[in-house]
Amino acid sequence: MKFIHVTDLHLLPEGGALWGLDPFERFEACLADIQAHHADATFVAITGDLTDKGDAAAYQRLKERLARLPLPCHLILGNHDDRANFRAVFTDRPVDDNGFVQFAFDADGRTLLFLDTLKGPPSSAGLYCPARREWLAEQLDAADGKPVYIFMHHPPFGIAHPLMDKIMLDDPEDFAEILSGYDVRHIFFGHGHRAVSGVWRGIGYSALPSTNHQLPLVGGSVETVYSDEPPAYAVVHLSEEQTIIHNDAFLDRRPARMPVEAERDDWH
Ligand SMILES: [Fe+2]
Repeated sequence: MKFIHVTDLHLLPEGGALWGLDPFERFEACLADIQAHHADATFVAITGDLTDKGDAAAYQRLKERLARLPLPCHLILGNHDDRANFRAVFTDRPVDDNGFVQFAFDADGRTLLFLDTLKGPPSSAGLYCPARREWLAEQLDAADGKPVYIFMHHPPFGIAHPLMDKIMLDDPEDFAEILSGYDVRHIFFGHGHRAVSGVWRGIGYSALPSTNHQLPLVGGSVETVYSDEPPAYAVVHLSEEQTIIHNDAFLDRRPARMPVEAERDDWH
């Protein structure tokens, strides 16, 4: 199964710049690239911070654009989102019995779980409260032994980034406890505004740059808190044996400085 991971759109209600970059224009370029090169993907998953300030008008813009995307697109929330405004616009999207924007579906013999880690202002950290944990425990049981893949905005672990690690998921030990004993293969998350990958308690994980602004790996390596580094989306291939993740920097792909006919023989 092949799908696309995108994260941290930070869309604004109107056009214009956020930290000097136009988030909608960049999201548009991202979708155009996906449509041009990955029309065979099963779906697109966007792991939160859909908007920058949670405005209903920004969700409306997103909804109108996704209506023209010829791929299903699964959405979850980040700390910059507003659950009530999201639900008021995306009225047909699944929520759990408590109104959290989390849902599950099976695809190709796997169970995919999309989690709502939104805590709410003024905190930028994530929260996975007992009601949400109960939902997750039920879904893990319902997976009935199938491999599980999780999508969430906040990582339930530190990523060795001093700023990000202050605003990771609260109570990570409680979260880890729920997953224990299940065949959870990978966690796809956002929030970090960086490409990050690794293994946590035997579970693979990956995160991506935002489609808009990034967070420098080393604070102070640029003058500003955020940085202008290449955005990317991820192309993910899942099989029983393997999880393959390619990051593609869609705005920074240019021909090499070489003749177009060079290196086209059977050099490989
Ligand atoms: Fe973000």
